[in-house]
Amino acid sequence: MMDKEGKVHGKGCVHMKKIAILTSGGDSQGMNSAIRAVVRTGLSRGYEMYGVKRGFKGLMNDDFFKMVSKDVSDILYRGGTFLQSARSERFKTPEGQKIAVENLQKRGIDYVVVIGGDGSYKGAQVLIKHGIKTFGLPGTIDNDIPLTDYTIGFDTTLNVVTDAIGNLRDTMSSHERVSVIEAMGRHCGDIALQAGISSGVDAILIPEVPYDLEAIAAELKAGFDRGKSHSIVIVAEGAGSAEEVAKELKALSGLDTRATILGHIQRGGTPSAFDRVFTSRMGHRVIELIEEGISGVALGMEKNEITYHTFDEIFAGKNKINEKMYHVFMDLV
Ligand code: F6P
Repeated sequence: MMDKEGKVHGKGCVHMKKIAILTSGGDSQGMNSAIRAVVRTGLSRGYEMYGVKRGFKGLMNDDFFKMVSKDVSDILYRGGTFLQSARSERFKTPEGQKIAVENLQKRGIDYVVVIGGDGSYKGAQVLIKHGIKTFGLPGTIDNDIPLTDYTIGFDTTLNVVTDAIGNLRDTMSSHERVSVIEAMGRHCGDIALQAGISSGVDAILIPEVPYDLEAIAAELKAGFDRGKSHSIVIVAEGAGSAEEVAKELKALSGLDTRATILGHIQRGGTPSAFDRVFTSRMGHRVIELIEEGISGVALGMEKNEITYHTFDEIFAGKNKINEKMYHVFMDLV
């Protein structure tokens, strides 16, 4: 039996099952706490744990290191990923995939845990096709993975964006301006939608819902005519650029507008309590699933339960905007 420091006790030479873990794609707050949960639970159940540096690149470069409990100390509350992350074009080629799989087999790795977004899940699916028992954890701030109510980092990002909007509101109101704020989300407007609701903005532009800038400009103008001191418009990057939208709204309304692109600020910061608990539960569940003989699945949370689905089910699922949530905004604006 191995203790938390990785020392083997007792007699006999038993094959310790090996689990490798990597983070891939855009980082998100809570990846570290997910790694910690997988590693600590794995060690306590007698598995050998390996970190892989820089995602799928690390698999191809044979960049593995053995982890003991201390390796994941002091990371629960840190944003980013201490394993580092990358997007790899080479892993999309058969040659890159072959090298990665050979490295895993050479090291006798029994399971791989991939933390990342949809691109990373495609990589996980490749490993499964090569016979590697793989798990996925939804690591992306975008909240755009089907069959989970949340992705890792989404809640933290929502808080970061809500704080940023609060700061912008102060100065916009002093100068009687319209603030057009661009939030991340290439294909999914969830960050813009939920930060828009939490901040009581005047308009939300998201890729899932068509919008009419002329109508929005008229409403903003009417608001100022009624005596409003400022207005806030939030646009998801997949729905347009803040610069363009601000320019057009100014031309249409005559109001003084300013554009702010929040950019990568949204991906940083200490994970929220929600993200820490969510990731701790999912990381712990991965090890339970291994013990139940289940693999080849991606985990998530549905109705506050940690659930799992095959990657095929995830890819077949369409990530849709929460329409009820959109109507909440429309009725409150
Ligand atoms: O997918 C997560 C995400 O943060 C998107 O919202 C954004 O469009 C993209 O990553 C930015 O990627 P990069 O960090 O490579 O510029």
